[in-house]
Amino acid sequence: VNGACMAAEIEEQPQVFERILREGRPRILEVAQAIRRRQPRFVLFVARGTSDHAALYAKYLVETRLGLPAGLVSPSTVTIYDTHPDLRDVLFIGVSQSGGSPDLIEPMTRAHACGAITLAVTNAPESPLAQAAEFHVDVLAGPERAVAATKTYTAELLSLFLLVEVLGAGAPSYEGGEAVESLPQRAQAVLALDSEVGRLAVRYRFAEQLVVTARGYNYATARETALKLMETSYLVAHAFSAADLLHGPMAMIDRGFPVIAVAPSGQGSSALRPVMERLRELRADVLVVGGADACTLGTIGLELPDLGPEILTPILAILPLQQLAWHLARERGIDPDQPRGLQKVTETW
Ligand code: F6R
Repeated sequence: VNGACMAAEIEEQPQVFERILREGRPRILEVAQAIRRRQPRFVLFVARGTSDHAALYAKYLVETRLGLPAGLVSPSTVTIYDTHPDLRDVLFIGVSQSGGSPDLIEPMTRAHACGAITLAVTNAPESPLAQAAEFHVDVLAGPERAVAATKTYTAELLSLFLLVEVLGAGAPSYEGGEAVESLPQRAQAVLALDSEVGRLAVRYRFAEQLVVTARGYNYATARETALKLMETSYLVAHAFSAADLLHGPMAMIDRGFPVIAVAPSGQGSSALRPVMERLRELRADVLVVGGADACTLGTIGLELPDLGPEILTPILAILPLQQLAWHLARERGIDPDQPRGLQKVTETW
């Protein structure tokens, strides 16, 4: 079957969460405690593609949970412009499934030389990125064969969540508490939406463009959804923070323009409300992926079960959107396992 790998990897995510919580957690705790003793004052992330979206989520976590400034670095400042930044007191985190792209390895090596505490979060413990960093966390997603990353993304999200929580508290007392332990069951419940998602995918069979929007922690979900749709289904999908959408791009939205709004729960979703009202006035074609309330604001809704505390929702809300990318590719006659012109490990410089 076309897309068999990607489908299996999407389905596997509850087991991956289980594995991280059971087997990965002790190592994450150890690494986070060692880093905590060094008292970083700033956190920088380096990543590309899907992993960059995991880093974006983690950047929000560092800001909200640790109260520290955080940023995403531009690899080109090292690989093209050869800078030697002052990185004392900086925690420098490289996020990557493969740990193989030269423009992650070089900044990581440079960060170490420039005084940063370095950590690689990868699905490849033997990779050059893992070896270039002082600390390493294995996200334990298992081999991923489909070109489109799915389980490695959520494995990165969960690993980074656990890491940041321990960096803050020094012990595993998580925001969301019990909800962390129930992630595997919740993921299973979300994945059960698959046939409904399949029906929704038909709506986008001939779509040429699409906007995905969200606010807060799920901005990462919007970005990742757009990437998944572009690489599996070849439509032009652009993600905007709902705030940024108002600062100009809203002008391109008119009647029938397809928009996906990700609004699972919490303050991030409430902040999306005025934008959804504006989209409704414009008669855009809005699919809301979220709670029952939010769904009433859209043209159509994919109602999610209770995903628990907002901070954990990115780990779950992406699941039906990965399924959407899979179904849409097949609707359009594309094999989602083999997007044209892409390879599993993309090497950029
Ligand atoms: C998207 C995808 C790519 C990778 C990117 C980074 O599905 O697979 O965007 O995420 O090439 O690769 P890693 O994480 O191996 O550094």
